[in-house]
Amino acid sequence: MRTLIKGGTVLSATGASPADVLVEDETVAAVTAPGFLTDADHILDATGKYVLPGGIDAHTHMEMPFGGTQSADTFATGTEAAAWGGTTTIIDFAVQAKGSTLTATLDRWHHKAGGECAIDYGFHMIVSDVNDTTLKEMETCAEAGVTSFKMFMAYPGVFYSTDGEILRAMQKARETGSMIMMHAENGIAIDELVAQALAAGRSEPVNHGLTRPSSLEGEATARAIRLAQVTGAPLYIVHLSAAEALSAVAEARDGGQNVFAETCPQYLYLSIEDLARPGFEGAKYVASPPLREKRHQADLWRGLRTNDLSVVSTDHCPFCFKEQKELGRDDFSKIPNGMPGVEHRMDLLHQGVVAGEISLARWVETCSTTPARMFGLYPRKGVIAPGSDADIVIYDPNAKQVLSAETHHMNVDYSAYEGFEITGKVDTVLSRGTVIVSPSGFSGRGGHGKFLPREHCQYLT
Ligand code: URP
Ligand code: ZN
Ligand code: ZN
Ligand code: ZN
Repeated sequence: MRTLIKGGTVLSATGASPADVLVEDETVAAVTAPGFLTDADHILDATGKYVLPGGIDAHTHMEMPFGGTQSADTFATGTEAAAWGGTTTIIDFAVQAKGSTLTATLDRWHHKAGGECAIDYGFHMIVSDVNDTTLKEMETCAEAGVTSFKMFMAYPGVFYSTDGEILRAMQKARETGSMIMMHAENGIAIDELVAQALAAGRSEPVNHGLTRPSSLEGEATARAIRLAQVTGAPLYIVHLSAAEALSAVAEARDGGQNVFAETCPQYLYLSIEDLARPGFEGAKYVASPPLREKRHQADLWRGLRTNDLSVVSTDHCPFCFKEQKELGRDDFSKIPNGMPGVEHRMDLLHQGVVAGEISLARWVETCSTTPARMFGLYPRKGVIAPGSDADIVIYDPNAKQVLSAETHHMNVDYSAYEGFEITGKVDTVLSRGTVIVSPSGFSGRGGHGKFLPREHCQYLT
């Protein structure tokens, strides 16, 4: 089966040029001068459109257990929604429950995702119980293609690890070449502030933001960086939201340390003003780290330009407003943490191109090429080149759309971006050579997506 994508502008992390793309079965066979090839079984006309490598969302939580409930998208619904938005790979998190082993955890997540996903997927491992067995099992995970481990400086009593536990896991990561991913917020201090707010009768959603100040993200980020420096482990700061945290990352990178960071669209476009919406509306915007004051946004865009922020992921972790966010109506600390977004990352970051915040090449780099290299998937993913998987998005940069819960495909009853006017829209999506989204709708299927065993990070010095 040969598919020719012709007439478009092919994008990569280094630029844009008019070219045609020949796909044979599941992979890219050739990228040629326009019009050079004419013979194919199937022709896709991309005239006036971009042709870019499929998006890679390196931070999602499908059916994730949290706060007595679980995130509302299954692997089936969440990967279909991702595909609609031009994302063709997700890396989700297997979550170790305290007392459980990493091997049993990985097995459970393979059972959840196997045969369900519309697009290819990999796993990171959340380590919440550091002990001799777990540390040994980090090697087994890496051999099984899970080469990155998330740890938490937040959520005492749930996922939290002490500095000593983090140090031990980092030593193991250094030994095996794996990446430590850090949720960097000072959870011990935050829990005190939360208790004080509740004792003072401050129970509304905005208090979620007020009790998690940006300086405590900056402090934890700097501490994680020091622990990584002492151990020599590579470190990736997840969902960075605060200027203080960005400064710490920039300083470490300037010093030559293997420190990387991602941010998420919600921190670029939403703010604590959304958390402060009247009534219980703010609950829709409860995630950790919290939405910040608007002043942080310019710093985050700058970080994306300077590469101190290398990746944009969504941290997609949807909870329905009516039934799930409701759990915290009388106590903000009981609102399940997380927001929906897997469907809108490519569109939202394209607005950064439209507004002149980032270049077209940087859009592709932060949303596809760098995540592939960061998490050991390149050049199979993240680029349109001969031999790469034919995960390709045809994107119409001039189409207009309005984001809404009425029209999105995520399994959640609200949109965090309700009414956002977007320039640009996905036209067609191929996953390993198969058209799964086209102007006539979704034509993929659960089970098409394959598990991706990953190599180590390809940026380490
Ligand atoms: O609020 C969030 N971010 N929920 C998902 C879990 C995490 O910490 O990434
Ligand atoms: Zn099994
Ligand atoms: Zn986190
Ligand atoms: Zn997350």
